[in-house]
Amino acid sequence: MGKKSSVSILCFLLISSTPIFVSAQTCNEAAGTFKPNSPYEKNRRLINSTLASNVTALAGYFNGSIGVGPDRVYALGMCAPDAEPQACSYCIQGASDSILSTCLNQTDAFMWSGEEIFCLVRYSSKSFSGVLALEPITPFYNQNDIREENQKEFDSVWDGLVLPMITRISSSVRNSSSTSLSLSGKYYSKDVAPVPVYGNILVLLQCTPDISSKDCSLCLETSVDYYKKWFHTKRGTILLRPSCFFRWELYNFSGAFDNINAQHPPSLPPPKSPSVSNLTNITKKGKSL
Ligand SMILES: *[C@@H]1O[C@H](CO)[C@@H](O)[C@H](O)[C@H]1NC(C)=O
Ligand SMILES: *[C@@H]1O[C@H](CO)[C@@H](O)[C@H](O)[C@H]1NC(C)=O
Ligand SMILES: *[C@@H]1O[C@H](CO)[C@@H](O)[C@H](O)[C@H]1NC(C)=O
Ligand SMILES: *[C@@H]1O[C@H](CO)[C@@H](O)[C@H](O)[C@H]1NC(C)=O
Ligand SMILES: *[C@@H]1O[C@H](CO)[C@@H](O)[C@H](O)[C@H]1NC(C)=O
Ligand SMILES: *[C@@H]1O[C@H](CO)[C@@H](O)[C@H](O)[C@H]1NC(C)=O
Ligand SMILES: *[C@@H]1O[C@H](CO)[C@@H](O)[C@H](O)[C@H]1NC(C)=O
Ligand SMILES: *[C@@H]1O[C@H](CO)[C@@H](O)[C@H](O)[C@H]1NC(C)=O
Repeated sequence: MGKKSSVSILCFLLISSTPIFVSAQTCNEAAGTFKPNSPYEKNRRLINSTLASNVTALAGYFNGSIGVGPDRVYALGMCAPDAEPQACSYCIQGASDSILSTCLNQTDAFMWSGEEIFCLVRYSSKSFSGVLALEPITPFYNQNDIREENQKEFDSVWDGLVLPMITRISSSVRNSSSTSLSLSGKYYSKDVAPVPVYGNILVLLQCTPDISSKDCSLCLETSVDYYKKWFHTKRGTILLRPSCFFRWELYNFSGAFDNINAQHPPSLPPPKSPSVSNLTNITKKGKSL
């Protein structure tokens, strides 16, 4: 499998205690290209102009297509389930717009985006609904390492937190009685566990709701394997794939944990906000599977 993807990084350092905003458009160089001003490009622009409102109108998840034959553009937009419609719309619009302005002639691209909330936008020349897509993958890792003498204990807490999350996420279903952004609540999971020395491990996982629960598990398990293979000693990892999102950190990120109570072990001082150099930063490590 080639690692034919180009990634552009936006990194906004906001006020000191605010985590780094990490976002990356992945232009899939392997999937094909289109010509400027072609019908494909026009259709992509048409979708760009309606995607955000369609996603918010449809409870945080929308898939659709515009055009016929080779000019047909398929698209998906999805927000985190706890996103306010306004924030969702803003996130989708921003992601869509940056895909269009970065992936200038690639037919296929995707972007997981956001800090306060997060969202996914994906474009393709082929129907992808229900199809597991593990590639291309865009990885990020924290520069800092877990100390060697802590790694074993750390791993056992990490495994005890993340592996059951994957089991649970793949059996989670849409809450049909909820009128809020509910469909995107399928295959979404976040959790926290206290870990000696380092404070808390915070994890956020999500799959797109169109894939099967078996494929959702597979996508996330593949990401766990990737983390263990390439970034095992690191203090945080983000793995972005078209079908699933995997991120864990030792700090509170994405506003995702505002409503989760961290269970600090009583003997530990509350974790300090990490300094900027301790955040999982934008250094990308391009390894294929
Ligand atoms: C796509 O864009 C790149 C860079 O701008 C260019 O080198 C390439 O020829 C383009 N491909 C097509 C099919 O237009
Ligand atoms: C968004 O919804 C409108 C109204 O239902 C529809 O005309 C438009 O084609 C939709 N956009 C996409 C990308 O399908
Ligand atoms: C995408 O849509 C937004 C909102 O309609 C617009 O502001 C932006 O210019 C569009 N981007 C491109 C590349 O057409
Ligand atoms: C949108 O999703 C539905 C349900 O997953 C699927 O049946 C449909 O084919 C999708 N539409 C497109 C244009 O991919
Ligand atoms: C489903 O959503 C409703 C309304 O938001 C909520 O009261 C209920 O607890 C939810 N059920 C589950 C299983 O999450
Ligand atoms: C994350 O930060 C928010 C806002 O600062 C706070 O309310 C929440 O308790 C924090 N969550 C954890 C797990 O530390
Ligand atoms: C930040 O990294 C330094 C060097 O690895 C480490 O000594 C320090 O404890 C870290 N701080 C936090 C809050 O993780
Ligand atoms: C990323 O890590 C490198 C090496 O530790 C550091 O020099 C750089 O400042 C960091 N960048 C950000 C944005 O934190």
